[in-house]
Amino acid sequence: MLTLTVFGASGKTGRRLVHAALAHGHTVRALVRTPASFEARPGVTVVPGDVLDLDAVSRVLEGADGAVSALGGGATSDPGNVRSQGIANIVATMARLGLTRLVALGGGGVLNATNRPGLRSEQPTYPEVFRRVTAEHRRAWETMRDSTLDWTYACPPDIPDREATGAYRVLANVMPDAPKALANGDLAEFMVREWTLREYSRSRVGICG
Ligand SMILES: NC(=O)c1ccc[n+]([C@@H]2O[C@H](COP(=O)([O-])OP(=O)(O)OC[C@H]3O[C@@H](n4cnc5c(N)ncnc54)[C@H](OP(=O)(O)O)[C@@H]3O)[C@@H](O)[C@H]2O)c1
Repeated sequence: MLTLTVFGASGKTGRRLVHAALAHGHTVRALVRTPASFEARPGVTVVPGDVLDLDAVSRVLEGADGAVSALGGGATSDPGNVRSQGIANIVATMARLGLTRLVALGGGGVLNATNRPGLRSEQPTYPEVFRRVTAEHRRAWETMRDSTLDWTYACPPDIPDREATGAYRVLANVMPDAPKALANGDLAEFMVREWTLREYSRSRVGICG
């Protein structure tokens, strides 16, 4: 049994990460900004705080074996810096504490384009509306890539808030062909399993329905 710190645990995907971690027999440490609105449950230790506060990040990582992250928030067109600075704080704190394994959630724009040079988000057809949030995901990826951690970056297309179906496809560094939306329950299941399996260490993963 592991103790996993979950970042973004109160979010749509983060809640499913908590479920998946408990279902796999792990215990959870969750960094939560508003504990009053977060469901208390056995196996989950809630640590109040903000990921932009390094002391809070230390508190929630102390005693854990590693972390999973589904940080997000803001508007797609104005995403703030939580994705990039949050991961920077997590990576720095994990390295300081001697923790190595981090499975984080990004987006499909940071995957390599298929049969073309560059990233999907660098292609002229990439939707303008996603550019700022993808830039945030990219900074988070670069922080992990430039660290010594054993990271995996799950990069999906749309992730509707749905129960796991068991039907999803994964590929290292690129999106599988003809991607369909991915139930975030499947995404959470993949991320928790991958934390232990390490099939995609130090890699981006295209994951879709
Ligand atoms: N939704 C999609 O279709 C889609 C598709 C591809 C990729 N993604 C990416 O997937 C990720 C998660 O998406 P989601 O829809 O599950 O997000 P979400 O429901 O908006 O959840 C975001 C989580 O991040 C937490 N958070 C935000 N700022 C924080 C801070 N300063 N300190 C601590 N926690 C903070 C939120 O906490 P609070 O509850 O306190 O706000 C919440 O728990 C995002 O990076 C998103 O860009 C989403």
